[in-house]
Amino acid sequence: MKEKFYITTPIYYPSGNLHVGHCYCTVVADVIARYNRLSGKDVFFLTGTDEHGQKIEGKAQESGLTPKEYVDNIVANSKLLWKDLGISYDKFIRTTDEEHKECVRKIFQKLYDKGDIYKSEYEGWYCTPCESFFTESQLVDSKCPDCGREVEKLKEESYFFKLSKYQDRLKKFFEDNPEFLEPESRRNEMFSSFINQGLDDLSVSRTTFKWGIEVPFDTKHIVYVWIDALSNYISALGYLTEDESLFNKFWPANIHLVGKEITRFHSIIWPALLMALELPMPKKVFGHGWLLVDNTKISKSRGNYKDPREYIQYSSVDALRYYLLKEVRLGQDGNFSEELYIKKINSDLANDLGNLISRTIAMAEKYNNGVLDKESYKNLVHEQSDKDLIDMVSNVVINYEKHMEQSRPDLALEVIMKCVSFSNKYIDLNEPWILAKSEDKKQRLNKVLYILAENIRIISVLLKPYMINIPGKIFEQLGIKDNSEILEYSSVKTFGQIPNNTVCKKTENIFPRIDIEVMLNERNKSEDVKKVEEVVKKPNVSIDEFDKIELRVGQILQVERIEKSDKLYKLLVDIGIEKRVIVSGIVPYYTESELLGRKIVVISNLNPVKLRGVESQGMLLAGGEKDVVKLLSIDDCIENGTLIH
Ligand code: MSP
Repeated sequence: MKEKFYITTPIYYPSGNLHVGHCYCTVVADVIARYNRLSGKDVFFLTGTDEHGQKIEGKAQESGLTPKEYVDNIVANSKLLWKDLGISYDKFIRTTDEEHKECVRKIFQKLYDKGDIYKSEYEGWYCTPCESFFTESQLVDSKCPDCGREVEKLKEESYFFKLSKYQDRLKKFFEDNPEFLEPESRRNEMFSSFINQGLDDLSVSRTTFKWGIEVPFDTKHIVYVWIDALSNYISALGYLTEDESLFNKFWPANIHLVGKEITRFHSIIWPALLMALELPMPKKVFGHGWLLVDNTKISKSRGNYKDPREYIQYSSVDALRYYLLKEVRLGQDGNFSEELYIKKINSDLANDLGNLISRTIAMAEKYNNGVLDKESYKNLVHEQSDKDLIDMVSNVVINYEKHMEQSRPDLALEVIMKCVSFSNKYIDLNEPWILAKSEDKKQRLNKVLYILAENIRIISVLLKPYMINIPGKIFEQLGIKDNSEILEYSSVKTFGQIPNNTVCKKTENIFPRIDIEVMLNERNKSEDVKKVEEVVKKPNVSIDEFDKIELRVGQILQVERIEKSDKLYKLLVDIGIEKRVIVSGIVPYYTESELLGRKIVVISNLNPVKLRGVESQGMLLAGGEKDVVKLLSIDDCIENGTLIH
């Protein structure tokens, strides 16, 4: 029977488009899942969305949509992103799925019947973005200790889970299972900040909003969103349904991969719930670090949103997946910026790996018509450099497997890339271009080229969990058929498997360099558009709210292009009461002379925004889309500053 492997990511709040930081965990989990499938295990990989709670209810209200309408759009978009990123999940769970909701109701009832849930009153602090409760002493400068945002005071009737009852069992479980929570730093933190401090019972229901799962025996209460969310790991497997076969097969999970700020929920609350349900513990919770931009966590609310699709567009999905795995050490924070990204992709993929492949295949074509000569490899005695390379490859395979079995794809990738640079050195050491000059070195030359091709084959098989398209392209250039056994994982353990007389052929450039100028320019362009769109986009408003908007007649006094932007003008506008700088994305629609002196309508009480470093103190009214955009104009006889009602 095949060994089972169950891996999960957190389920994401559908509160906006996913950024590169969100992709990190899912890509890492995907690499681990793909490796385990490749090595022959029966894998279940779960991801999904966490759709209930006060935060989502509020966001939906702001957009004038029902919560379900609001999340449906975002969830559809997230699924498309996972498709673009090659995420090979086996199930995508939504906490709004009927089966999930039913499971959560049953879990709540079960814990209540058992006496582990009781009714009381909650008084304390709540952070809505994190959906977390805090006591006064846990706050930092009166703000949420996790995200630093405002918290609100709550006092409401609530059901409580007897977390304190599980304190001693949890402590013992942690002590007996040091590998349960990794990395060690998070384990120490959980011990010192929570387990050793003593655990309070946890409020597990709310009464002040409606968007969630009702407590089955007291429907004015909504199940606390974290109880709802954590249950997804077992509801997805059919726990407490008529058919528990998946649950029996895959539970306990091998690994819950989560971000560091939610490790507490997964390593304390979740195990305590499982203890109360008398279920086995997951084997491991791994709390990874964050992707940072300028030392700050990437997050939409901090204004440093990074759109994963942009990176796919300017490089490739495999390049983005590579960067996330290679640049960020699992468990630690990692930096993300365009410059770092391009530098890394160009140096590791275009230079090191790309050159290894293109040089090898080009030389095989030039010196031996692309034919890989296994006979020379077998017949000629190994030189020291051959032995070193072949030994190194076999060590690489051993270490790769060791790291992958410990769910450390970051370390396994490091090992592969060392093999790449060693192989490049092997080329320099053997100088095939010199060997090619003497006819009596022909066999030696063929042997060197065969060893290199074989090495590339092994590297490409090892890269399969990381890259979706590239390994296939490399095999094609090596002349190896898709379904060949020598592309299976088991084949990496024996060196020398490419059949004699296989013909390799260079086609496309597998790792084109990213042009830093082109990418930065394109990125800035789309950023301009996004920012302008953000300013223009407004939620529904009541008549009273509309009345708050101040519209005035203005006149354009000066027009300037903004450097490096092909959309934005910096305008000086006389709005009667003063002169204002307004940045407007109308370069494609108006020439400077068409604008000078023109009377326009301005929203004059908008909060200023910075666009490409220039503060814009208002907005011009215009209509139209894409090709045709026209400014709202007004008769010249109306004075500057006149209010429009
Ligand atoms: N819904 C909860 C998880 C419930 S799991 C039972 C949640 N959702 S979230 O959308 O806010 O975050 C999902 C994951 O994305 C978390 O693990 C979080 O750490 C991760 N990340 C969000 N921003 C991140 C970075 N900038 N970098 C890396 N991961 C980040 O929490």
